[in-house]
Amino acid sequence: MQRYALMSESLLLNHAVSLPQMHHAGGQPQAAGAAPPLGPAVRLGPLTIAPPLFQAPMAGYTNFALRQLLRRLGGVGLLCTEMVSARGFLEIDARKQTYPERLWGVREESRPLAVQIWDNDRVKLGEVASRIVDEFHPSTVDINFGCPAEEITHRVSCGAFLLQFPDKVGELAAAVVRRVAPVPVTAKIRLGWTDNRISAPETAAALEQAGAAALFVHARTAQQKYRGNAAWDRLAEIKARLKRIPLIGNGDIRTWQEAVIALRQYPVDGVMIGRAAVTRPWLFAQASAALAGLPVPPEPSPQEQRELLLELCHVLTQIFDAQRALILMRKYVGRFCQGLPGAKRLRTEVCAAHDLGTLISALDAFYLGADSKS
Ligand SMILES: Cc1cc2nc3c(=O)[nH]c(=O)nc-3n(C[C@H](O)[C@H](O)[C@H](O)COP(=O)(O)O)c2cc1C
Repeated sequence: MQRYALMSESLLLNHAVSLPQMHHAGGQPQAAGAAPPLGPAVRLGPLTIAPPLFQAPMAGYTNFALRQLLRRLGGVGLLCTEMVSARGFLEIDARKQTYPERLWGVREESRPLAVQIWDNDRVKLGEVASRIVDEFHPSTVDINFGCPAEEITHRVSCGAFLLQFPDKVGELAAAVVRRVAPVPVTAKIRLGWTDNRISAPETAAALEQAGAAALFVHARTAQQKYRGNAAWDRLAEIKARLKRIPLIGNGDIRTWQEAVIALRQYPVDGVMIGRAAVTRPWLFAQASAALAGLPVPPEPSPQEQRELLLELCHVLTQIFDAQRALILMRKYVGRFCQGLPGAKRLRTEVCAAHDLGTLISALDAFYLGADSKS
């Protein structure tokens, strides 16, 4: 049976990360050396994405290190950066002549890769999309109309706040499409602002009209944030409004079985996975094998899971200083060990760890049963 390729610990500790070859939009949208696509696929304008499994953008998580791990484990059709503020991009450029940290690694990374941006100003959004396409060559540009965080919605009227104005969403997307064509532009939305103001069907029509190449829908309202369950049965109404472009469903997929069932049971062309991409990064490889009719790889052993975390840690230390890497590792470990016996104690230990060595000892104790004090 297929196993997950593991990098040996000594390799991890002794060698710098070798960056994968760069593939630009318009070329083959496969990672270097990847197997030819098997099973179902979905088209985003000129791009074929196979399998139709998408890694959801997650601020604070889907940096280069996590994306590298996901890409290596396989099975993800399209990866995505964390959301990048268009205004922030322009300010950092003007003040420091540099780029937002969230674009770290994007230029050299394998394709396909989406960069997600957000703003409510069509000139700024268009300008930044065009700069990102010219300077970073992503496979697609995604626009965030789904973030429910108050600093994005209430404070600056962006993200999911814009779902109250489907025409405005269409105008913003059209401005980006005009600036970056033929690079596909996609949009990520929620069902609407509140349960009384479901706007996804009109917003979907406006986005298709604006020239978007695909629509990602997190099947919750902004008001719900992450509470309750994602309402996948509400996607049919949205699908009915789309004539040309694919609909990708998102929300609460936790296992490869749920991903396969969602694809079969709901009128979606693909599935997007967020939190479970951090908790179980191997689930894409499992789901893609199932979709292609191949044997599904088993769950990684505790030792293999530990090695995946060490691999992540190693790449994080290439990007960030030790303190930032430590803070990020605490968050990753917190999600990674979810549902495992003793997870609470591990979380307490990694939160108390003041350096990466201590954190790794805690991982050893948890995953290998080694004595963390030795
Ligand atoms: C910590 C966190 C950060 C997120 N950051 C983003 C983001 O940058 N852009 C975005 O469109 N959605 C973001 N999301 C939403 C996810 O992309 C996804 O829509 C949501 O988590 C539901 O999918 P899931 O149940 O598979 O996690 C974020 C979610 C979480 C939990």
